[in-house]
Amino acid sequence: MAVIDDLPKIESEAAKAIAAAGDEASLESIRVAELGKKGRVSLLMRELGGMTPEQRTTAGPALNGLKDRLGAAINARKAELEAAAINARLETEREDLTLPPRPEAVGALHPVMQVFEELAAIFADMGFSVAEGPDIEDDFHNFTALNFPAGHPAREMHDTFFLKPDAEGQRKVLRTHTSPVQIRTMMTQAPPIRVIIPGRVYRKDWDATHTPMFHQIEGLMIDKSTHMGHLKTCLTEAFSRFFEVPTAQSRLRPHYFPFTEPSAEMDMRCDRSGGEIKVGEGNDWLEILGCGMVHPNVLRNCNLDPEEYQGFAFGLGVDRLAMLKYGMPDLRPYFEADVDWIKHYGFKPWLLPTVTGGLS
Ligand code: PHE
Repeated sequence: MAVIDDLPKIESEAAKAIAAAGDEASLESIRVAELGKKGRVSLLMRELGGMTPEQRTTAGPALNGLKDRLGAAINARKAELEAAAINARLETEREDLTLPPRPEAVGALHPVMQVFEELAAIFADMGFSVAEGPDIEDDFHNFTALNFPAGHPAREMHDTFFLKPDAEGQRKVLRTHTSPVQIRTMMTQAPPIRVIIPGRVYRKDWDATHTPMFHQIEGLMIDKSTHMGHLKTCLTEAFSRFFEVPTAQSRLRPHYFPFTEPSAEMDMRCDRSGGEIKVGEGNDWLEILGCGMVHPNVLRNCNLDPEEYQGFAFGLGVDRLAMLKYGMPDLRPYFEADVDWIKHYGFKPWLLPTVTGGLS
């Protein structure tokens, strides 16, 4: 049978051509020539119609097998070519980080880092130290220990980025807030605890005021007698210093977080009448952060007895604070690594903020 006899020759020719294809375009033309509508293999398949049933029982599977093998060989070669293209690109885009900086491209401290420094200085003055935790978290620290019940909608509230399941089937997450570091701190330090926790957090969001990665500062204070009054005074004082207004006013609005009870959002008094927001005075309010008293279940999850210990926690978005204080209208340039932007809005790295010297 002529059709069957041709197949080994076709297969070895095609295999040679596929292996020799140097780019995706030539691979595609091989695919069209063999498996396309008018390709060599496709035309042979049409001949099946004119065969006797006996001929068809051998020719059919033989042709289908050939078609599958060629398809698989083409896909495999395609993956090879793609990997080679990426490697070639990585090779040409290699940067030598040991080269000295070009004087015309010297950067500056990013406004977010400046605000981290300023708030660290303000809170250090009140006896807070800095704690940190990993960006890649497990479900326990990011949710469960923070009193998010399994299947609770608050888990979805955060539009979490999940990683692929590991060997045990656990899916790690990119932390959606800095609150997991509350857990890590309470599990490793004995009260009294006073920490602030700066860090990157991640949520699936992207527009003028939301980026998939942004920055938070968490605060945690645990001892035997700290209450909501301390929370309000501590934060009002911190923001008066931060915005450099002598008597900033704040209010607490009831809110819900699974890990605090009671929970609140804090607003600062502000003035929007002049086109831009001025914090500290005026007839308006500006939402600044989420806060509350650490939930008894969270204390228990960290092996602290809620009959003995209590305290507050708060979490604020740093990027928005920097926009407010330094008058930047759009969040997106924060993440574009644009030297001109950083030269305009950035800070000299050696001008460290001090509380006594004023922060400006
Ligand atoms: N983790 C909360 C958020 O990201 C903020 C928060 C922190 C609220 C601590 C209360 C206490 O929205």
